[in-house]
Amino acid sequence: MISIKSPEEIKVLKEGGRILASVLNEVVFRVKPGVSAKELDDLAYKLIKKSGGEPSFLNYSPPGDTKKYPASLCVSINDEIVHGLPAADKILREGDIVSLDLGLEYKKFFTDMSVTVGVGKISEEAKRLIDATREALERGMREMKAGGRLGDYGFVVKDFAQSAGFSVVKELVGHGVGYIPHEDPDIPNYGKKGEGLKLKEGMVLALEPMLCEGREDVMLGKDGWVWKTKDGLLSAHFEHTIVVEKDGCIVLTKI
Ligand code: MF3
Ligand code: CO
Repeated sequence: MISIKSPEEIKVLKEGGRILASVLNEVVFRVKPGVSAKELDDLAYKLIKKSGGEPSFLNYSPPGDTKKYPASLCVSINDEIVHGLPAADKILREGDIVSLDLGLEYKKFFTDMSVTVGVGKISEEAKRLIDATREALERGMREMKAGGRLGDYGFVVKDFAQSAGFSVVKELVGHGVGYIPHEDPDIPNYGKKGEGLKLKEGMVLALEPMLCEGREDVMLGKDGWVWKTKDGLLSAHFEHTIVVEKDGCIVLTKI
Protein backbone atom coordinates (compact mmCIF):
# COMPACT_ATOMS: atom_id res chain seq x y z
CA MET A 1 0.00 0.00 0.00
CA ILE A 2 1.29 3.41 -0.95
CA SER A 3 0.48 6.04 1.62
CA ILE A 4 -0.33 9.69 1.00
CA LYS A 5 0.83 12.13 3.65
CA SER A 6 -1.35 15.03 4.72
CA PRO A 7 -0.13 18.65 4.65
CA GLU A 8 0.25 18.55 8.47
CA GLU A 9 2.34 15.39 8.23
CA ILE A 10 4.46 16.92 5.49
CA LYS A 11 5.15 19.88 7.75
CA VAL A 12 6.66 17.55 10.34
CA LEU A 13 8.57 15.64 7.65
CA LYS A 14 10.01 18.96 6.49
CA GLU A 15 11.24 19.74 10.00
CA GLY A 16 12.76 16.27 10.23
CA GLY A 17 14.33 16.54 6.80
CA ARG A 18 15.96 19.83 7.68
CA ILE A 19 17.40 18.38 10.87
CA LEU A 20 18.66 15.30 9.03
CA ALA A 21 20.35 17.39 6.35
CA SER A 22 22.09 19.58 8.90
CA VAL A 23 23.28 16.58 10.92
CA LEU A 24 24.62 14.87 7.81
CA ASN A 25 26.30 18.13 6.81
CA GLU A 26 28.10 18.22 10.17
CA VAL A 27 29.20 14.62 9.70
CA VAL A 28 30.54 15.44 6.22
CA PHE A 29 32.63 18.25 7.76
CA ARG A 30 34.36 15.64 9.92
CA VAL A 31 35.47 13.54 6.92
CA LYS A 32 39.25 13.58 6.50
CA PRO A 33 42.10 11.10 6.22
CA GLY A 34 42.68 9.20 9.48
CA VAL A 35 39.12 9.50 10.79
CA SER A 36 37.35 6.21 11.53
CA ALA A 37 33.86 5.27 10.35
CA LYS A 38 32.97 4.72 14.01
CA GLU A 39 33.83 8.33 14.87
CA LEU A 40 31.42 9.49 12.15
CA ASP A 41 28.72 7.14 13.44
CA ASP A 42 29.22 8.39 17.01
CA LEU A 43 28.94 11.98 15.85
CA ALA A 44 25.77 11.26 13.86
CA TYR A 45 24.24 9.53 16.89
CA LYS A 46 25.13 12.38 19.23
CA LEU A 47 23.82 15.11 16.93
CA ILE A 48 20.56 13.27 16.24
CA LYS A 49 19.94 12.76 19.96
CA LYS A 50 20.68 16.43 20.57
CA SER A 51 18.11 17.39 17.92
CA GLY A 52 15.35 15.54 19.78
CA GLY A 53 15.15 12.80 17.16
CA GLU A 54 16.15 9.14 17.01
CA PRO A 55 18.57 7.45 14.60
CA SER A 56 16.16 5.31 12.58
CA PHE A 57 18.70 2.78 11.26
CA LEU A 58 19.89 1.78 14.75
CA ASN A 59 18.44 -1.68 15.51
CA TYR A 60 16.36 -1.56 12.32
CA SER A 61 15.68 -4.65 10.23
CA PRO A 62 15.22 -3.87 6.54
CA PRO A 63 12.19 -5.61 4.96
CA GLY A 64 12.84 -9.33 4.54
CA ASP A 65 15.75 -9.25 6.97
CA THR A 66 15.85 -10.60 10.51
CA LYS A 67 19.09 -9.09 11.73
CA LYS A 68 19.22 -5.60 13.14
CA TYR A 69 21.49 -2.88 11.82
CA PRO A 70 23.88 -2.11 14.70
CA ALA A 71 24.61 1.59 14.04
CA SER A 72 23.09 4.98 13.16
CA LEU A 73 25.10 5.71 10.03
CA CYS A 74 26.01 3.61 6.98
CA VAL A 75 29.59 4.28 5.85
CA SER A 76 30.36 2.73 2.46
CA ILE A 77 33.86 3.24 1.08
CA ASN A 78 35.04 2.92 -2.57
CA ASP A 79 33.71 -0.42 -3.91
CA GLU A 80 31.17 -0.57 -1.08
CA ILE A 81 27.82 0.61 -2.46
CA VAL A 82 25.53 0.87 0.57
CA HIS A 83 24.98 -0.38 4.14
CA GLY A 84 28.66 -0.35 5.12
CA LEU A 85 29.08 -0.89 8.87
CA PRO A 86 30.89 1.97 10.65
CA ALA A 87 33.60 -0.12 12.32
CA ALA A 88 36.31 1.44 14.51
CA ASP A 89 39.05 -0.09 12.35
CA LYS A 90 37.55 1.27 9.15
CA ILE A 91 39.81 4.29 8.63
CA LEU A 92 39.29 6.85 5.88
CA ARG A 93 42.32 7.32 3.65
CA GLU A 94 43.29 10.08 1.27
CA GLY A 95 41.74 9.38 -2.14
CA ASP A 96 38.80 7.29 -0.84
CA ILE A 97 35.23 8.12 -1.70
CA VAL A 98 32.70 7.54 1.05
CA SER A 99 28.91 7.32 1.02
CA LEU A 100 27.32 8.47 4.29
CA ASP A 101 23.71 7.34 4.66
CA LEU A 102 21.60 8.45 7.61
CA GLY A 103 17.98 8.03 8.69
CA LEU A 104 16.07 10.10 11.21
CA GLU A 105 12.89 9.52 13.18
CA TYR A 106 11.50 12.86 14.30
CA LYS A 107 8.10 13.29 15.96
CA LYS A 108 7.23 9.78 14.70
CA PHE A 109 8.11 10.58 11.06
CA PHE A 110 11.00 9.16 9.05
CA THR A 111 13.35 10.77 6.55
CA ASP A 112 16.36 9.27 4.77
CA MET A 113 19.38 10.88 3.09
CA SER A 114 22.82 10.09 1.78
CA VAL A 115 25.74 11.84 0.14
CA THR A 116 29.05 10.66 -1.29
CA VAL A 117 32.16 12.74 -0.66
CA GLY A 118 35.86 12.45 -1.34
CA VAL A 119 38.47 12.04 1.39
CA GLY A 120 41.22 14.60 0.79
CA LYS A 121 42.34 14.71 -2.81
CA ILE A 122 40.59 12.19 -5.05
CA SER A 123 41.10 11.11 -8.68
CA GLU A 124 39.41 12.90 -11.57
CA GLU A 125 37.47 9.71 -12.34
CA ALA A 126 36.19 9.47 -8.74
CA LYS A 127 35.14 13.11 -8.87
CA ARG A 128 33.31 12.50 -12.13
CA LEU A 129 31.49 9.51 -10.66
CA ILE A 130 30.37 11.51 -7.62
CA ASP A 131 29.22 14.45 -9.74
CA ALA A 132 27.35 12.18 -12.16
CA THR A 133 25.55 10.42 -9.31
CA ARG A 134 24.48 13.73 -7.76
CA GLU A 135 23.33 14.98 -11.13
CA ALA A 136 21.47 11.73 -11.93
CA LEU A 137 19.47 12.24 -8.73
CA GLU A 138 18.83 15.90 -9.54
CA ARG A 139 17.66 15.09 -13.05
CA GLY A 140 15.50 12.25 -11.75
CA MET A 141 13.92 14.54 -9.16
CA ARG A 142 12.83 16.91 -11.94
CA GLU A 143 10.59 14.09 -13.24
CA MET A 144 8.72 13.81 -9.97
CA LYS A 145 5.31 15.45 -10.13
CA ALA A 146 1.69 14.40 -9.77
CA GLY A 147 0.64 12.50 -12.89
CA GLY A 148 4.23 11.57 -13.75
CA ARG A 149 5.43 7.97 -13.72
CA LEU A 150 8.19 6.23 -11.80
CA GLY A 151 9.46 4.96 -15.15
CA ASP A 152 10.15 8.57 -16.17
CA TYR A 153 12.38 8.95 -13.11
CA GLY A 154 14.20 5.66 -13.71
CA PHE A 155 14.70 6.33 -17.40
CA VAL A 156 16.27 9.72 -16.82
CA VAL A 157 18.58 8.47 -14.06
CA LYS A 158 19.93 5.53 -16.06
CA ASP A 159 20.09 7.43 -19.33
CA PHE A 160 22.15 10.20 -17.76
CA ALA A 161 24.40 7.75 -15.88
CA GLN A 162 25.14 5.84 -19.06
CA SER A 163 25.79 8.98 -21.05
CA ALA A 164 28.43 9.83 -18.44
CA GLY A 165 29.96 6.37 -18.94
CA PHE A 166 28.73 4.78 -15.71
CA SER A 167 26.42 1.87 -14.86
CA VAL A 168 23.44 1.81 -12.51
CA VAL A 169 22.83 -0.73 -9.74
CA LYS A 170 19.57 -2.61 -10.43
CA GLU A 171 19.37 -4.85 -7.40
CA LEU A 172 19.02 -2.04 -4.86
CA VAL A 173 16.24 0.50 -5.06
CA GLY A 174 14.73 3.61 -3.51
CA HIS A 175 11.48 3.42 -1.57
CA GLY A 176 8.53 5.14 0.02
CA VAL A 177 9.26 6.58 3.45
CA GLY A 178 7.62 8.63 6.18
CA TYR A 179 5.52 6.53 8.57
CA ILE A 180 8.23 3.86 8.63
CA PRO A 181 11.80 3.73 7.20
CA HIS A 182 10.88 1.62 4.16
CA GLU A 183 7.41 1.83 2.62
CA ASP A 184 6.00 0.91 -0.77
CA PRO A 185 6.72 1.48 -3.59
CA ASP A 186 10.16 0.23 -4.63
CA ILE A 187 11.83 2.83 -6.82
CA PRO A 188 14.25 1.35 -9.37
CA ASN A 189 16.88 3.61 -10.88
CA TYR A 190 15.99 2.46 -14.38
CA GLY A 191 12.72 2.30 -16.29
CA LYS A 192 10.73 3.16 -19.36
CA LYS A 193 9.21 6.55 -20.03
CA GLY A 194 5.47 6.61 -19.37
CA GLU A 195 5.52 3.30 -17.49
CA GLY A 196 5.39 2.33 -13.85
CA LEU A 197 3.48 3.77 -10.93
CA LYS A 198 1.58 7.00 -11.45
CA LEU A 199 2.67 9.61 -8.94
CA LYS A 200 0.19 11.39 -6.68
CA GLU A 201 0.40 14.52 -4.61
CA GLY A 202 1.51 13.75 -1.06
CA MET A 203 3.61 10.67 -1.84
CA VAL A 204 6.83 10.82 0.17
CA LEU A 205 9.69 8.97 -1.50
CA ALA A 206 13.37 8.28 -0.90
CA LEU A 207 15.19 8.43 -4.23
CA GLU A 208 18.64 6.89 -4.17
CA PRO A 209 20.61 6.21 -7.34
CA MET A 210 23.78 4.13 -7.01
CA LEU A 211 26.23 4.49 -9.90
CA CYS A 212 29.26 2.32 -10.64
CA GLU A 213 32.52 3.09 -12.33
CA GLY A 214 32.55 -0.39 -13.88
CA ARG A 215 29.91 -3.11 -14.10
CA GLU A 216 26.57 -2.91 -12.30
CA ASP A 217 26.88 -6.35 -10.66
CA VAL A 218 26.73 -6.37 -6.87
CA MET A 219 27.51 -8.81 -4.09
CA LEU A 220 26.74 -8.92 -0.40
CA GLY A 221 29.83 -8.62 1.79
CA LYS A 222 30.92 -11.13 4.43
CA ASP A 223 29.33 -9.19 7.29
CA GLY A 224 25.90 -9.74 5.72
CA TRP A 225 25.23 -5.99 5.48
CA VAL A 226 27.52 -4.24 3.06
CA TRP A 227 26.77 -4.36 -0.68
CA LYS A 228 29.82 -4.10 -2.92
CA THR A 229 30.61 -3.99 -6.61
CA LYS A 230 31.63 -7.43 -7.91
CA ASP A 231 34.44 -5.98 -9.99
CA GLY A 232 35.88 -4.03 -7.05
CA LEU A 233 35.53 -0.69 -8.84
CA LEU A 234 34.09 2.46 -7.29
CA SER A 235 30.44 3.17 -6.56
CA ALA A 236 28.69 6.37 -5.44
CA HIS A 237 25.29 6.98 -3.85
CA PHE A 238 23.11 10.03 -3.22
CA GLU A 239 19.69 10.01 -1.58
CA HIS A 240 17.00 12.58 -0.88
CA THR A 241 13.57 12.29 0.66
CA ILE A 242 11.07 14.19 -1.47
CA VAL A 243 7.34 14.89 -1.49
CA VAL A 244 5.41 14.80 -4.75
CA GLU A 245 3.48 18.00 -5.46
CA LYS A 246 1.20 19.16 -8.25
CA ASP A 247 3.88 20.64 -10.52
CA GLY A 248 7.06 19.12 -9.17
CA CYS A 249 8.56 17.86 -5.97
CA ILE A 250 9.94 19.38 -2.81
CA VAL A 251 13.19 18.07 -1.36
CA LEU A 252 12.60 17.48 2.36
CA THR A 253 16.20 16.63 3.23
CA LYS A 254 17.72 20.03 2.80
CA ILE A 255 18.88 22.72 5.19
N1 MF3 B 1 19.01 4.36 3.33
C1 MF3 B 1 19.14 2.94 3.50
C2 MF3 B 1 18.20 2.26 2.56
O1 MF3 B 1 17.23 2.85 2.18
C3 MF3 B 1 18.76 2.53 4.85
C4 MF3 B 1 19.53 1.44 5.35
S1 MF3 B 1 18.75 0.83 6.71
C5 MF3 B 1 19.89 -0.13 7.47
O2 MF3 B 1 18.41 1.13 2.19
F1 MF3 B 1 19.42 -0.29 8.65
F2 MF3 B 1 20.00 -1.25 6.81
F3 MF3 B 1 21.01 0.50 7.47
CO1 CO C 1 16.89 4.78 1.66
